[in-house]
Amino acid sequence: ELKVYRDGVEHPLQIRKLSWTSGQTEKNGYEHFMLKEIHEQPTALRDTLASYPDGLPGLPVESPERLLLLACGTSYHAALYAELLITSSSNVSARAHVASEYAARTRGNSEGLVVAISQSGETADTLAPIRALKAAGHSIVGVTNVQESSLDRLADTVFLTKAGPEVAVASTKTFTTQMALMALLAAELTDDAQVASDIRSGLRSLPGKVEQLIARSDEIQKVAEWLAGFDHAFIVAKGAQVPVALEAALKLKEVAYMHAEGMPASELKHGPFALLTPETPVLAMVPDDENRARMVTTIREISARGAPVVALVDGESADIAEFARTIVQMPGIHGSLAPIIYTVAVQLISYYCGKARGCPIDRPRNLAKSVTVH
Ligand code: M6R
Repeated sequence: ELKVYRDGVEHPLQIRKLSWTSGQTEKNGYEHFMLKEIHEQPTALRDTLASYPDGLPGLPVESPERLLLLACGTSYHAALYAELLITSSSNVSARAHVASEYAARTRGNSEGLVVAISQSGETADTLAPIRALKAAGHSIVGVTNVQESSLDRLADTVFLTKAGPEVAVASTKTFTTQMALMALLAAELTDDAQVASDIRSGLRSLPGKVEQLIARSDEIQKVAEWLAGFDHAFIVAKGAQVPVALEAALKLKEVAYMHAEGMPASELKHGPFALLTPETPVLAMVPDDENRARMVTTIREISARGAPVVALVDGESADIAEFARTIVQMPGIHGSLAPIIYTVAVQLISYYCGKARGCPIDRPRNLAKSVTVH
């Protein structure tokens, strides 16, 4: 029996049952929680997508013209992915913003629909602007993995990711399920029925493709063990893969203690080229999309400066193999969803790299799972 009192008066309790079980927070034979959580992604994606068989109905603003996405860290990368996907597939003007740098505005409805993304639902830097925007009359959509979290209670509409409890400090399954929800949101907002149908059918095949990739972990582990011998790395991509490059850099920093920078491929020649040497490996995302030719040119330019390239490729790779040290062959999927699969690959690379470097993978120094202070 549990009784709660407020100022000496018993406060009525509303009991709600959560679907999580204590067994989900065990390592279940895995060496680290991070590896277990990477492997749980096919199930996490299936469970999340199964919760929204009819898409994302009930948006508080029907047909919004503008969308503001606020989040921090890895969740910000999901926001950025959403921005790129939504702006390229609909007329909605979507903008992702690092929540801590968003100065709350009170100019009526100028922000349109506001979406807050936070796996924990407790990140202070995200909650602060959301509270201000809500007070200014904006409708808030929350995307979180934790039922009954502050964000869940604050938002007008909540879309839960069904990743189950995530114990490792580094976000993995909560990120890919956020990305899947953002793809559903893009399908909801586009008025092009073909685009929506392509996204939805691609999402149905996504968990199986992630399984195919995870089954090739040995190959990825070899690349990671080689990468572990360096202290600096660059990760480059174009289009909707840019958030994956940023996420790869974040993951390498936190779980492998490696200095890594992610950036749009073309930015290399605006400065970072000066740093390229045989001691600065570059990971390049080369999906089979409209950016492929530009990525191949970038790889040639990098290789000409002596830096070794690891190319993550789906589709044809013969022209890349000539210039790359290693090719990691990725399962193909509908273009806009490829970043989700590539994310799983960079998670595995970071994990095995951290392991080879002897890092405390699940609990990196100085970091907390949920950052509840400004
Ligand atoms: O709980 P949140 O998604 O709001 O957390 C935001 C960041 O602190 C978080 O994504 C952090 O960057 C990751 N744990 C890194 O893996």
